[in-house]
Amino acid sequence: MDDTRTGKVSALRRRFLSTAVATMGAAGVAATAIPFVRSWQPSARARAAGAPIEIGLDAIAPGQQVLVTWRRKPVWVLRRTPEMLRRLRSAELEARLRDPDSEKDQQPEYAGNELRSIRPDILVVVAICTHLGCIPNFHPETGKTRFDSRWPGGYFCHCHGSKFDFAGRVFKNVPAPLNLVIPPYRFTEKSTVIVGEDPVA
Ligand code: FES
Repeated sequence: MDDTRTGKVSALRRRFLSTAVATMGAAGVAATAIPFVRSWQPSARARAAGAPIEIGLDAIAPGQQVLVTWRRKPVWVLRRTPEMLRRLRSAELEARLRDPDSEKDQQPEYAGNELRSIRPDILVVVAICTHLGCIPNFHPETGKTRFDSRWPGGYFCHCHGSKFDFAGRVFKNVPAPLNLVIPPYRFTEKSTVIVGEDPVA
């Protein structure tokens, strides 16, 4: 689970900053969600030290996601729609995935399920491609796209063509070898998610 690409942090950070706006634009993230999330961010010093990040979920509409930074890594928080969940559970999609049951150590134990999440509707995932560390783009559209003739929606990495579904599960026959990493996280009673802390036992 630890990031073994620490030598690339600076370059990754630069890529993250330069692509964050475009990524969120492709995601259709409501502009109003961005300042709300920022209001939850701890100080730059606390972030550098790896402090947990608290994100309000009420600002994320179904089908939308926000991008935050935790331990200098980009992290998406996506609110999945019932239709997204239906597609994730389809046998057709499962047959196209390299690790549909999340058997590799890419998530905490409590997210080691089909949807790779604690709650079905909320996905929390590190936005770093497991090939060479680019930030994939959010492509919620479905059907024929320029990179897939029957795209079920998910994330596409423009660097070398890796594809991931709405659970961060990697497709077969792409360069990325592993599912996207799920960070530790927990929910609170006030409709927020804290990235960087495990659920209270
Ligand atoms: S870095 Fe994503 S496919 Fe190569």
